Amino acid sequence: MDVETLKRLAGEKAVEFVKPGMVIGLGTGSTAVHAVRKIGRMWQAGELPGIVAIPTSEVTAREAEKFGIPLTTLNEQPKVDITIDGADEIDPHFDLIKGLGGALLREKIVAAASRRMVVVSDYRKQVTQLGARAPVPVEVIPFAQRPVTDYLKSLGACVALRLDGARPFLTDEQNIILDCTFESIPDPAQLAQTIRAQPGVVEHGLFLGLATDVILATPDGVEWLKK
Ligand code: 5RP
Repeated sequence: MDVETLKRLAGEKAVEFVKPGMVIGLGTGSTAVHAVRKIGRMWQAGELPGIVAIPTSEVTAREAEKFGIPLTTLNEQPKVDITIDGADEIDPHFDLIKGLGGALLREKIVAAASRRMVVVSDYRKQVTQLGARAPVPVEVIPFAQRPVTDYLKSLGACVALRLDGARPFLTDEQNIILDCTFESIPDPAQLAQTIRAQPGVVEHGLFLGLATDVILATPDGVEWLKK
């Protein structure tokens, strides 16, 4: 089975947890989009009356709008019943690296407001230790690019400014992203705290203690992993 099919199977499976009347966080990325589309089709078929959704990016908002999914904001609905989102790495504790799609700030805000965060992924994202295959994206206000870069380098990271063509990639909040590759991340909580301590850092892609479920698509089938 090709990876695109696995992503679709994972994204769609998670929608089984969505019920009428729920407030739903809509994740961002090539796996989460399959959940958005399935919710959209079910909404159009009248199978999910009363739902409202909070998109984690402008791209996801546009996708949801194509189906007419009713959108809301955390200011109107501060408690989210369920969020379905992808990940770049998942460790055995369900701690994650997210943000290769550039939406980590809104994704983390929505995840933190959610009773349940269901991660949808193909098997390639499973790691024994965070940092094994993905950099940690750090969202930074452009004014602070140089001091934050120097600080992250002092922590041992190899730091790359994320680009969009020849220009810096800008997030939905008009911030830049520094992708930080660490040789290893033995203590993600410590690293998260240390990164956060630097002024100019808006958020980082270490999602610790937020995911409650993982829907993992493998060539042998789709698994539901629960904490
Ligand atoms: C976006 C994210 C995505 O969820 C993550 O990058 C996974 O994306 P994909 O499903 O396309 O591999 O964190 O900011």
